[in-house]
Amino acid sequence: MDYGGVLEKIYTAIQPTLGQGEVADYIPELASVSPSHFGMAVVTVKGDVHTIGDASIGFSIQSISKLFALVLALQAEGDTLWTRVGREPSGTPFNSLVQLEHEQGKPRNPFINAGVLVVTDILCTRFAVPENALSEFLQRLSGTPSIHYNRRVERSERRHSDRNSAMAHFMKSFGNLRNPVDQVLDAYCRHCAIEMNCVELARAVSFLANHGRIPATGEEVLDISRSKRLSALMLTCGTYDAAGDFAFRVGLPAKSGVGGGIVAVIPGECGICVWSPRLAESGNSFSGTLALEMLTTLTGRSIF
Ligand code: DON
Repeated sequence: MDYGGVLEKIYTAIQPTLGQGEVADYIPELASVSPSHFGMAVVTVKGDVHTIGDASIGFSIQSISKLFALVLALQAEGDTLWTRVGREPSGTPFNSLVQLEHEQGKPRNPFINAGVLVVTDILCTRFAVPENALSEFLQRLSGTPSIHYNRRVERSERRHSDRNSAMAHFMKSFGNLRNPVDQVLDAYCRHCAIEMNCVELARAVSFLANHGRIPATGEEVLDISRSKRLSALMLTCGTYDAAGDFAFRVGLPAKSGVGGGIVAVIPGECGICVWSPRLAESGNSFSGTLALEMLTTLTGRSIF
């Protein structure tokens, strides 16, 4: 597959769309990013790397961290994790509190905020320095030792975490959070503030395209069954409340973040990351979603 040629076509086609959508500003530090960036990277399981645009500029991974936090928690805890977090799409915004009361403090899935707070609680129990466990894991997955978090974004995130704090306290009242709320929030905010570029993220997610093994080293991250299940969760829950429309348009397992990044996987073939900071109303990158839609249309590659 000529991914280089396909990326060129996408890059030309998305240019007129780069003014559409709004940069996330509910966390002030996120609003400081220049809005017209666009980058995309494809890393194949054979090790080929194709890029276009701003693929080597780092950005705030935000909720893409939820995917990797879940992988780390599954490695540490195994399937007992699913007694504390569900696996159904929520049909509500990522930071919604309403379902939690009806469902006795058990979040619908690990990709909404309530879900990742439970996942992060597991990491706090399992790791001596939970705030750094995820960046170290991402360094290994992407083969990039320099991956770090942005302190300004972390502080901004933490200062505006009242809603996450409410959720965490609420779940603690149901016994579904074991560690101090502040510790869990510190780790979660630091995870959201990790900065990576498209190439690093495409490489980090490529194990999911390779039956759970890092293509470059053969190291098993998840077994085949868990790798399949994680991809299924990405398809059904990975792009907020718009996962149905995203599956309709793109047809790939994916996870998005409010920094404008989206990672996706073509099973057996490649990891993909696209970044463009302006978001559609759904919270997913406007031009990024369009670019992924074009990728599957132009290549005929999707899971369907
Ligand atoms: O918790 C927050 O408010 C954000 N930092 C979450 C980031 C995000 O991308 C939305 N998540 N699902």
